Amino acid sequence: MRVLLTGAAGYVGAVARAVLEDEGHDVVGLDTGLYDGCDLGVAPPPTDLRLDVRDVEERHLDGFGAVVHLAALSNDPVGDLDPALTYAINHEATVRLAEVARARGVERFVFASSCSMYGTSGAAAAIDESAPLAPITAYAESKVRSEHSLSALADDGFSPVFLRFATAYGVSPRLRLDVVLNNLVGWAVTTGAVRLQSDGSAWRPLIHVEDMARAVSAALSVPRERIHGQAFNAGADEANYLIRDLALLVGEVVPGAVVELAEGAGTDPRSYRVDFSRIADELAFRPEWDARSGAEQLARAYRSVEMDEAMFSSDRFVRLARVKTLLAAGRIDEELRWTALSERITA
Ligand SMILES: NC(=O)c1ccc[n+]([C@@H]2O[C@H](COP(=O)([O-])OP(=O)(O)OC[C@H]3O[C@@H](n4cnc5c(N)ncnc54)[C@H](O)[C@@H]3O)[C@@H](O)[C@H]2O)c1
Repeated sequence: MRVLLTGAAGYVGAVARAVLEDEGHDVVGLDTGLYDGCDLGVAPPPTDLRLDVRDVEERHLDGFGAVVHLAALSNDPVGDLDPALTYAINHEATVRLAEVARARGVERFVFASSCSMYGTSGAAAAIDESAPLAPITAYAESKVRSEHSLSALADDGFSPVFLRFATAYGVSPRLRLDVVLNNLVGWAVTTGAVRLQSDGSAWRPLIHVEDMARAVSAALSVPRERIHGQAFNAGADEANYLIRDLALLVGEVVPGAVVELAEGAGTDPRSYRVDFSRIADELAFRPEWDARSGAEQLARAYRSVEMDEAMFSSDRFVRLARVKTLLAAGRIDEELRWTALSERITA
């Protein structure tokens, strides 16, 4: 299938592109390139369409069977930088992209949603897709609004599907260190201590980036009526972890690392245990990775690039820090669009 993959140059996108191409899809990557150059090892292939998703026009959607929409301000801290901008990029541009895709006859629209829309369910029974949505950040709210608006666009010729991903981990050429397991392994490898930013009592479901790509692939390959207008939690029941158990696991995987609470650590209100039976039953999705194999993979990758504390604490792998660097250097404006200065630097 010919697939337009937005966010192709990001953490998930760089892996998803490779996985989808391996499965025979013809992938065209679209991305504005906020994290270009932020590579772990070998850079991902260049983006085919270096375009802001807010500027997509109908002509960009010609000839695709599906859109896989990953492009977004991708976490709570970046979303909190400017909530209105988060809604403009994550919600309004999503709706417009879907409208032009529908107008051009694209049949499937796979939307990267998030389990963070469940908010603070805590340790109560795991929650499924019918649970009330209780977003507590602009980022999570942007996902709720997007699902709502995309549902309204579903019709005989256009099938949106919402993959409510667990929190990602694992190696990608566009690594992020601001997701929990990648971060904990980074502390362990570069300092010998696993430093928790909270008291570790929150529940968090996890999924490996390669398994995220395989979930996307499942949504592209099943008959359209199975996914039409549906939400699927994307992860595995056994991959709901207490953050402190993840820290202990990392302490085992990285020999000699001690587990420490970061100074002033409090309780993280974003705590949720999620039921993933639907994606298992209806899309036959089973993750191939777990937190232990992922932590081992991460530790190997960090050592192979000789990651030290300076690299670990730089802006290269932390989305909010990178955006702030680009803003301070005048390379992007306050709407996160590239400036003329940036065009001169990259010319
Ligand atoms: N990583 C996770 O834990 C996780 C969990 C649940 C859902 N998701 C969702 O998956 C998607 C991908 O996340 P990620 O971790 O790869 O994030 P990322 O920040 O690494 O990648 C996002 C990509 O989108 C691009 N982008 C941002 N604004 C854009 C714009 N206006 N126009 C075009 N491109 C733009 C960026 O340049 C970047 O390459 C996001 O929608 C995110 O919300 C991620």
